[in-house]
Amino acid sequence: MISMKNIWKSFGSNQVLKDVSITINSGEICALIGENGAGKSTLMNILGGVLPADSGTIYLKGQPVQFANPAESLRAGIAFIHQELNLVNDLPVFENMFLGREIRRRGGTLDLETMMAKTEDLFKRMNIDLDPRAMVRDLDASYKQIVEICRAILMDASIIIMDEPTTSLTEPEIKRVFQMMETLRDQGVGIIFISHKLNEVMEICERYMVLRDGELVAEGQVQDVTPDALARFMVGHDVRSEQLSRVMQIGNEILRVENLSHKHAFRNVSFAVRRGEILGFTGLLGDGRSELFQAIFGADAVASGKVFLDGKEVRIHSTEQALELGIGYLPRNRKENGIIKDMNIFENATIVTWPMYSKRGVIDKTRQEAIFARQREQMGIRMQRLTDNISTLSGGNQQKIVLAKWLAARPKVLILDNPTQGVDVGAKEEIYDVILALAEEGMAIIVLSSEAQEIIRLCDRALVMYQGHIQGEVSGSTMNEHDIMKLATGGILNAG
Ligand SMILES: Nc1ncnc2c1ncn2[C@@H]1O[C@H](COP(=O)(O)OP(=O)(O)OP(=O)(O)O)[C@@H](O)[C@H]1O
Ligand SMILES: [Mg+2]
Repeated sequence: MISMKNIWKSFGSNQVLKDVSITINSGEICALIGENGAGKSTLMNILGGVLPADSGTIYLKGQPVQFANPAESLRAGIAFIHQELNLVNDLPVFENMFLGREIRRRGGTLDLETMMAKTEDLFKRMNIDLDPRAMVRDLDASYKQIVEICRAILMDASIIIMDEPTTSLTEPEIKRVFQMMETLRDQGVGIIFISHKLNEVMEICERYMVLRDGELVAEGQVQDVTPDALARFMVGHDVRSEQLSRVMQIGNEILRVENLSHKHAFRNVSFAVRRGEILGFTGLLGDGRSELFQAIFGADAVASGKVFLDGKEVRIHSTEQALELGIGYLPRNRKENGIIKDMNIFENATIVTWPMYSKRGVIDKTRQEAIFARQREQMGIRMQRLTDNISTLSGGNQQKIVLAKWLAARPKVLILDNPTQGVDVGAKEEIYDVILALAEEGMAIIVLSSEAQEIIRLCDRALVMYQGHIQGEVSGSTMNEHDIMKLATGGILNAG
């Protein structure tokens, strides 16, 4: 149906795509995988008319085509669900569904009723429990993602590009997205699926294509490969997959939360974390865990309850104040809360450590640069110059930068919401190593994650939330996906 031939692309001296040729067939789900910065989004941006190629040709049903902008690509039947979401916060869901293709009445006014009805109808067909009148601003990141996918479906596209559609979704939502994808495939739509979760690739894709350093290094049928083999194609060597281990030295209790409640989001939450401990929080969409930590950090007024640090009651009003107290907090959504778009890479990576490395207002830049250089190597951050704007980095490398700034701040308690979203399989292991090392040094770490595997591999114990309260706890070497899922859906574990 569509093919890209001999595509080259560079940004300045950075050669990002080197003679890449790919084909996408109709009625097929094809995975596009590769390390952070390998060139996946760039290749798709060229197909989607977002970026021009330096050279190479796109063929649609055998005919050469050129897309000068996204609208032209869309008109040719290519819908693009971007890695960074593209919705208008100040419009309701149903109007977002028709952005740029609004339905109008004869006189030219917007036909809100029809757009509303079509959205309702689609949500019903797809079994999505979401009010089309809700403002996008008020939606959780996962619902925003679902709205984006539905929008692509409404466009009647013949090719849908999905750039990491599942990073902020939990298991049941991912299943629902997969069902949508299968329905579309059966209707003859060709889907390009980008994901760092290789088990998803194994489950939903028929074919795979692997980019490494801007070159297509492998492609074939998914049924002929193992996840380990795919990981090897991506990074060029074996990737560890066994259980992580560390010297556990759990110290005194450092942070305690008692009976915290919030009008809608959560109720009666109590827990404590100790030095050297890695405590997980998991659950499904709407479980309230992200809201819980936002509330602890003063972004939201807490209805009732208390927070203690080192035994003393504290009231936190901002993340700055939290940092002064020794608590670091990486919020959930990188794009909305993590990166500062107008700043360069180095500024983004060091912003929270400025006070630590300044003497009488003068910042020890050399020291900061040395620390950043080490992190850059540890986490394999792929970048050019420190002074480049943060937006020139690939999605996964941006995530590594926001994580780096909190790891460098060395707080007493570090709370990480969704720390490895969009990070490739190899870099994920490196980040886990950094987190384990910090715990060994005595830092208390709280990890919020929707990935059961991440919780199991990284955490000493985990609290599973369900509809705003703590439904149960899992811990130690007996942690497993089944128990977590049971608690996350409101079940209870049998004693013993
Ligand atoms: N606008 C830009 N200006 C300069 N360099 C860029 C720009 N966009 C991307 N790059 C560079 O191109 C390379 C490929 O980036 P790309 O976003 O395609 O990676 P990716 O495979 O999608 O990675 P990820 O898995 O992290 O999303 C990276 O080195 C990135 O820094
Ligand atoms: Mg990308």
